[in-house]
Amino acid sequence: MSLLIRNLSQIATPAGRTAARGAAMRSLTVHENAVIVVDGNRFAYVGPESGCTLSIDEDFDARGACAIPGFVDSHTHIPFAGFRESEFNRRLQGETYADIAASGGGIASTVRATRAAPLEELVINVLARAATMARYGTTTAEAKSGYGLSLEHELKQLRAIRAASARSPVRLVPTCLAAHEFPRDDDDYVTTIVEEILPAVARERLAVFNDAFVERGVFTRAQGEKVLRAGLEYGLVPRLHADELSDTDGAALAADLGAASADHLMYVSDRGVDALAASATVANLLPATSFFLMSPRYAPARALIDKGGAVSLSTDCNPGSSMTESMQTVVQLATLQMKMTVEESLTAATLNGAYSLRLSHETGSIEPGKRADFVLLDAPSYLHLVYHFGVNLVSAVWRDGKRVV
Ligand code: NIG
Ligand code: FE
Repeated sequence: MSLLIRNLSQIATPAGRTAARGAAMRSLTVHENAVIVVDGNRFAYVGPESGCTLSIDEDFDARGACAIPGFVDSHTHIPFAGFRESEFNRRLQGETYADIAASGGGIASTVRATRAAPLEELVINVLARAATMARYGTTTAEAKSGYGLSLEHELKQLRAIRAASARSPVRLVPTCLAAHEFPRDDDDYVTTIVEEILPAVARERLAVFNDAFVERGVFTRAQGEKVLRAGLEYGLVPRLHADELSDTDGAALAADLGAASADHLMYVSDRGVDALAASATVANLLPATSFFLMSPRYAPARALIDKGGAVSLSTDCNPGSSMTESMQTVVQLATLQMKMTVEESLTAATLNGAYSLRLSHETGSIEPGKRADFVLLDAPSYLHLVYHFGVNLVSAVWRDGKRVV
């Protein structure tokens, strides 16, 4: 089956099969007066209609919409149960995220709810969040465990991601984040992760990536390194929650380990910025977390890009520090608060996220040969992604050549 999308105002996309770094993040390809042809699950042609020689089975009138690649949300915590709106309300009244965690709330309260939830409930929750993501233009999302904190419940979260994958409009990429927090009922949790959880995850092939929260009061740099190196032995590629609430030299650790990404980086040091800029590790920035925590501190996106680094953007969707599925909001915060250009933000939210998920040869841009993952925006140009803020501009979404929204 081939499908022609005509009457587009623009097609705006980064290009390539690998991440764009530094100044190259600003060079989008913008086609005017062009069509998209999808054949099966892949793009077959992008360019002027007159140059297309393919036979067409079906025609779609985009009525002046702008096409962009589907967003790639490369950092989410979506297999959770329960919400934390009361804690959020306490934060609005002046308590901090750390105060709330110290009083038994925070990650621990989501761990209680997630442990109590049967697998089927987590599957429903993942599918509901994936449906919202799709409506806001996301076609690929990473999803982390990390609210189980025991063999049984970490596996349950990862099995929920797997079970949801078959029915999800969004392609899901699983990450084991057993090293998210210490459970109260295990005195030797690092050993449990290394000797029980990671081998079981690898045996069932439940994750592609292995993540750790290296933070003051959570996992030390040495413990994080131990967990990530153990994962590498099972073929699990490291990612790292690095320098989110304090500088723990996490960025340099991620670069040393050849991690796919170093995430958050609100408190990254100059040394950490240099280490990332000189490495293949993507700096994955999550400005919605700063915004939602009401922190004036955003990651140094400008320094990372100006020094030649590869930056991606993600929601961090989770019930405590960033309760949103919207990559449009993230792109808006990246430009308005971190001073990225719209072009850099679009590249970060598509191709570079795909690269950090090891999928940039398959998705992240609108180019013949790649999977047909794309979004139509009700807008005359891609600049409206930021200019026309706070509303959902998405009017249609295709993933793998199938219309999902
Ligand atoms: O990415 N950094 C740790 N994990 C999450 C927050 C998780 C939670 O509060 O439930 C984050 O911000
Ligand atoms: Fe996170």
